[in-house]
Amino acid sequence: AGLINIAIDGPAGAGKSTVARKVAEQLRYVYIDTGAMYRAVTFGALRAGIEPGDSEQVGSLAASLDIRLLPSENGQKVVLGGEDVTEQIRSREINLRVSRVAAIEQVRTRLVSMQRELAGRKGVVMDGRDIGTHVLPDAELKVFLTASVRIRAERRYRETGQADRVDLEQLEREIEQRDRLDSEREISPLICAEDAVVIDSTSLTIEQVVSQIVELSRTKK
Ligand code: C5P
Repeated sequence: AGLINIAIDGPAGAGKSTVARKVAEQLRYVYIDTGAMYRAVTFGALRAGIEPGDSEQVGSLAASLDIRLLPSENGQKVVLGGEDVTEQIRSREINLRVSRVAAIEQVRTRLVSMQRELAGRKGVVMDGRDIGTHVLPDAELKVFLTASVRIRAERRYRETGQADRVDLEQLEREIEQRDRLDSEREISPLICAEDAVVIDSTSLTIEQVVSQIVELSRTKK
């Protein structure tokens, strides 16, 4: 009883997934990382040798892919055609291509309908770029989580594996580029919903952000 939906949007590396996962844990809600779905399509395209800019081919691939989000110990597992791709979709190769795939209309239509279905029974914490503005416009609580690009790059730098290591300045440029593509695309760009609560996490800890959101959720029930 009293279940609500919580939308968490914001730019790359603002800590959305860590925060969303912890909020879901505390409220015993279901955590849904929508970025992972766009990453899975990008991974599928790469593997099939399709250029991320080829809207037609990527679009029809997206329609045919079997993408599943399953709860796991550390939040969420991503299964593509029966294969666990949770780790592989986090690579730099994917980071550099995902925004182009996510700008394709057919890709978004398919994934958004999956996302709405997943949120249908309420009690979800969903993170992404267009959750509060487009996927769940009626979500009871909307949070727009940001932080300075420098701090986002620093956080990402610390969690990046050796194989994908680039210097901090380069990482910062790549994050800015992804934000720009996500904010300037035609379909459901990254923007702050009018009714979202803005939280700037630049000088906050993860725990502080989590408790702010849990507090806010209690006022919405
Ligand atoms: O959240 P994450 O960084 O994993 O998202 C990867 C990419 O997926 C984003 O840069 C964006 O291009 C796309 N995305 C989106 N809409 C969402 C979630 C992610 O377009 N709701």
